[in-house]
Formats: sequence, structure tokens, C-alpha cells
Amino acid sequence: MRVAILSSEAVPFAKTGGLADVAGALPKALSENGEDAMLLLPLFEQIDRKYLREEIIDNLDVDWRGRSYRARVFYSDATGAPSFLIDAPEYFARNSIYGFRDDHERFAFFCRAALALFKRLGAPPDIVHLNDWPGGFAAAEIRSRRNFDSYYARTRTLFSIHNLAYQGAFNASDLWILGFGDDVRDAFMMDGTASALKAGLMTSDALSTVSRRYAFEIQTPEFGHGLEWILRARRDRLVGITNGVDYDVWNPATDPHLPAHYDINNMDGKRECKRALLREFWLPEDLDRPIIANISRLTAQKGYDLIKEAGGAILETGAFFVALGSGASEYEDFLQAMRDHAPRQVGIYKGFNEPLAHRIEAGADIFLMPSLFEPCGLNQMYSTRYGTVPVVRATGGLDDTVQDFDRVSQTGNGFKFEHYTALAMLDKIYEALYCYAEPDLWRTIQLNGMRVDNSWRAAAQKYIELYRRVAQM
Ligand code: ADP
Ligand code: GLC
Repeated sequence: MRVAILSSEAVPFAKTGGLADVAGALPKALSENGEDAMLLLPLFEQIDRKYLREEIIDNLDVDWRGRSYRARVFYSDATGAPSFLIDAPEYFARNSIYGFRDDHERFAFFCRAALALFKRLGAPPDIVHLNDWPGGFAAAEIRSRRNFDSYYARTRTLFSIHNLAYQGAFNASDLWILGFGDDVRDAFMMDGTASALKAGLMTSDALSTVSRRYAFEIQTPEFGHGLEWILRARRDRLVGITNGVDYDVWNPATDPHLPAHYDINNMDGKRECKRALLREFWLPEDLDRPIIANISRLTAQKGYDLIKEAGGAILETGAFFVALGSGASEYEDFLQAMRDHAPRQVGIYKGFNEPLAHRIEAGADIFLMPSLFEPCGLNQMYSTRYGTVPVVRATGGLDDTVQDFDRVSQTGNGFKFEHYTALAMLDKIYEALYCYAEPDLWRTIQLNGMRVDNSWRAAAQKYIELYRRVAQM
């Protein structure tokens, strides 16, 4: 089957969050399973040109806003699968991936250019796999072109929801400027404005999301962001496939970012990583004291309101607290205040730093992820592989991938609380710290986590089965 995956970010090209990890790893896993998979991405300014192998098209003519826009296309195999990067400097030569007033126009252009590229490459894809709101434009366009363009007659679309909180809203009067007519207008419309996400949910042939539990949650008002009615109506077209982990990138035995390596048979290297991490943050080298860590976009989604509320109590446990993240100033300021208050106990890095994320996963003891909602979550899975025990809230993919440790049966790979309250979170942190104080018990929990196989192989197989079903729709 010919599968084309469109994404607004992908490792190693450009990343703000977990979508990039998924879009980087899935095409490779599909290729390894024998599928003909390719990735399409905008050529953002920040993408390191060393990843580009060659310019394959210098005259991709895209029908755009009443004229023809000439884009270029570069080829890369840096993910391990064929990737095509669309170069349109007017839209993508900027200093970040999102955050511009014309984001809807930028990604609508990307989708239209992707469609033009399909025709240039030859046979139509069987499956066009779209991800989050930037892909909504392509779903709508393929749906509408099928009525008059036989090229798309057999092409089916799968729309994957990584996060319903980002909806790609824009002024409805722009719809016609972007070339969307009456046939798909309703699909975009939501409370008087246009939503690219809603169009994707309405016009794609099938829907998926990135964990089983989130697939259920988003059918309820609590998690549906106003779109739950669509997801309920289309629930026979919606499946949850939990993300995998790319163990070529996240493996403590080989990770090039780590000062020392380790695996399940010899954990000495983890202690070295902890020592180096304490040094890096100018913290005392007290190796027996636990490090509680967090790496995330600083948004309400990630449970930072709980961490804020419990900050004092976390410090009272005596544990170190290390955080890497950027985002809302409210949370950045809180982290700064925590660090100023306890500079020998708290280490923070405000910003995006991929190598540091690896060093924290390796050097920490406990990874705190108290998310308000979490479609899948990757850091809890990276943590278990790195022998770092996750403390998570039982929501979305966190619930699917973390099992609460049980002292009697000695099963479980982490700690999990239900209620979104600081008290419930603190209870689990205390429980984790009590276990940490018993080294043999702690080792058991670490090994339970390190043994879990979350590799992409199984998840890619599920996507392949899904693609086959969708191709028949
Ligand atoms: P989300 O996609 O909602 O941000 P995930 O857990 O799926 O959450 O994935 C987040 C990814 O982004 C992980 O690979 C994590 O290590 C990375 N990440 C998040 N914030 C930062 C940061 N400030 N620096 C480096 N990596 C980060
Ligand atoms: C989103 C979600 C996160 C998920 C990631 C990759 O950004 O917030 O939970 O792991 O996408 O699917």
C-alpha cells in the first residue's frame, strides 16, 4: 500500500512536542514492515539543511489564491523513510513552526502543495494519513476533489488526533480565499468561525487517536473540547492506537547524549548520569537523595497547576526537583520562584533542549507527569526505559502505559493517581519516595519498567491493519 503521512513536525527535522517523535518514527516502522510509506513536511527555516539529500523538484506549481505558486521540493532519508520537504519561503522561512497570524493559511498551503506533489510523483496514495489540525485542510480537499477528480477516487484519508486542544481556528471569510467552497464549508464551521480540526474530523474517512483511553475520553464533554458530539457520532470510525517509542533514539545503552550508558543488567551508568545531572544544574552531589523531574511544554494540560500548588510540599520531602520546559509565563515564573527559593534543591532550564531531555530521563529517579489530560504522552515511556519511575495521573495514554506498583505482587512500573488534586498527586509522590528508600524494592520497580516493550513494531502493525480497513471504505 502507498501511504503518505503529512505532519507539521517530525524528528529529526523540527519538533515542539510528541507529534514530532511519532511522525519521525512511524514512517520508518512502516517501511521496516514492508509498506511503501513516505512523509511530507514543510521546509521550515530551522530545519538543518544537512538532512536534505537533494532538490528533486524546482517547479511544483500549486494552485493558490487564484494564481500559481511555484514551490520547491527537497528529498531526505534522515528518518529512515523517504521524506519530502516542501519549500515555500513566504510561509515557512520563519523562526518557529507555529504562532503566526496566518498559520491557517500556511498549513492550508502545505496541504494543497502536498496534493500537487502526489500528482507529480505518479500513482495516487492509497492512504493519506493526516495529523492534527494542520492536516484538516487536506482531508476536506480530498473529500471535495473526489467528486470531480478521478485521481482521488481510490484514495482514503485517516485523520489522527494527537491533541484536541489545538483547533486551528480562523476567520470564516478566509475559507473562500483558501479555495474551500460550499461543499465543505459546514464541515469547517464551528460557533461562527472556521476550524481546521473540525473539518478534519468531519471529512476524513476514518479517525484515530494515540491511546485507547483517550479514544473514549474524547467522546465526553470533559475531554471533547466541544467536538465530542462528532466523535460520538463517528465512533465506529474511531480507534485508539497507543504510540510506540523509537528505541534507536531513546535507549540508555546507546544514547549519544548521555555521559554514561547502562541497561537492565548493569545500572552503574545510571548513577553516573545522576551525578552528571546534579553537576549540570549546580546541585550538591548527594547521590542518595532522589531527583524528581519533569520535561514538558508548560501548559495547563501538563498538570502544572498541581505542581504549582504542591511546590512547597515537594520541597519539604527533601528531594531534588529538576524541570525542563517552556511555555506559559505563569508556569515559567513559578519555576523561577521555586529555584530562587531553594537553589540547592531545584534545577530549572527554561527553553527547548533535546540533549538535556535525554540527560534528565537518564539522571532522574522519578518522572512527574500529573497531566490534566494526555492523549498519549511519551515521556512516561521514555522514563520506564531509562529506569526512571513515572508518577502520573490516570488519564489518556498515561493510564494505558503506566501500571500502579503493588507491593504484594511486586507488579507495576510506576505510580498512578486518579483525582486531579494536589493531595492525590502528593500521596503518590510520598508512596514513590517510601519505595525509593528501599533500594531492592526500587530496583524491582525500575526493572519492571525497563522490561516493558513499547517499540513501534507492534503499533506500526496496528496502523497497517487499520490502513487496510480504511482502504476498503
Ligand atoms: P506533548 O506532545 O503533549 O508535548 P509528549 O509527552 O507526547 O507531550 O511529547 C513531548 C516530547 O517533547 C518529548 O519527546 C519530550 O522529551 C519533548 N519535550 C517537551 N518539552 C521539551 C523541552 N523543553 N526540551 C526538550 N524536549 C522537550
Ligand atoms: C500530543 C499529545 C501527547 C501525545 C503526542 C504524540 O502532543 O499532547 O499526549 O503523546 O501528541 O501523539
